[in-house]
Amino acid sequence: MEFKLNDEQELLRDTIREFTENEIAPIAAELDEQERFPEELIPMLADIGVMGIPIPEEYGGVGMGNLDYVLAVEEISKACASTGVTVSAHTSLCCWPILAFGTEEQKQKYLPELATGQKLGAFGLTEPNAGTDAAMQASTAEDKGDHYLLNGSKIFITNGSYADVYVIFAMTDKSAGNKGISAFILEKGMEGFTFGSKERKMGIRGSATYELVFDNVKVPKENLLGEVGKGFKIAMATLDGGRIGIAAQALGIAQGALDAAAAYVKERIQFGRPISAFQNTQFTLADMRTQVEAARLLVYRAASKKDEGGKYSAEAAMAKLFASEVARDVTCKAVQLFGGYGYTREYPVERMMRDAKITEIYEGTSEVQRMVIAADMGIK
Ligand code: CAA
Repeated sequence: MEFKLNDEQELLRDTIREFTENEIAPIAAELDEQERFPEELIPMLADIGVMGIPIPEEYGGVGMGNLDYVLAVEEISKACASTGVTVSAHTSLCCWPILAFGTEEQKQKYLPELATGQKLGAFGLTEPNAGTDAAMQASTAEDKGDHYLLNGSKIFITNGSYADVYVIFAMTDKSAGNKGISAFILEKGMEGFTFGSKERKMGIRGSATYELVFDNVKVPKENLLGEVGKGFKIAMATLDGGRIGIAAQALGIAQGALDAAAAYVKERIQFGRPISAFQNTQFTLADMRTQVEAARLLVYRAASKKDEGGKYSAEAAMAKLFASEVARDVTCKAVQLFGGYGYTREYPVERMMRDAKITEIYEGTSEVQRMVIAADMGIK
């Protein structure tokens, strides 16, 4: 299978590459250093269509596919994984479930502002006791006739307090296990909806990760997303797509580290010659390139499978599992090629190494991806 980009895709990739080089790369180290969310980039990304690539034009999006979307996340993540996950969580975890499960009214109400970047999206599933065991939701949404009363909290929420629209999961029937979970659309500013602490993280420090707190939030009935009790399936289906976005982020991080290392080894002189002249360097870079290329094929394949329709859980899980492990390994090799300088903040590879680690953890750990892949083979 070969992925030959068409003219439109090449144009999209080149536009985002240029934007990333000019606007994101110069501030990536500062965002990490200061743990600063790059709010100013959102309208700029929106201007080049990045906030709504796979959303149909009728809902304000660009109307392109998932392969186009992963090209964007990959390009951005080459320079800044924090900005990459901001776009990925917004698109895959908030816009997509509204598009896939929302009523026509919900799509008309929320998607145009999300897809044009006037509003930012987030997704709240994880809780202190519901991480990998996502069905163990403690948040509750009590049916009060014309509204649901939402109580509880969510942790580790990407885009946290900077988002405007949230897809949130809570128990509507505690006795029904995962079939008692429902999904809701929340808006910033709803009474009783506040933000807890911001996480201080090892990597993706420019991404805003917050706790969300719900204290008797009155959620209008029309904000129920999908059917009552179908929330767990909505979450799982959403994460299938989210995992392709994170796989693309991991791919971008790995490519960024490979590019940085390939440039550095030509400049760095030791023993009277550039270290690129040593076979160890050549072999290491050859391995890194092969790993990145293999990851790219899996990521593009998963995105294409999603574009084709039908089930793509296993393809998404394989792409995320492989690309995240490649990102971890390739960034580590890049630091090694840089030697002592690679360990300093003078060069980007130590940041890339820290950023890579989260791709093996969020939106399902590597262990969860293996469970999904094995289950798809009928091995449970
Ligand atoms: N699509 C639709 N439905 C699905 C599905 C999918 N991909 N996967 C499972 N389901 C359905 C099953 O068919 C089953 O339905 P029935 O009972 O009707 O048959 C139901 O969901 C339960 O399935 P399982 O028995 O497989 O569920 P489980 O409780 O054993 O959990 C799990 C399986 C894979 C471990 C799952 O809990 C999981 O994916 N956990 C990880 C959660 C995760 O990725 N969290 C990340 C949160 S977001 C984030 O990281 C932050 C961020 O903002 C970036």
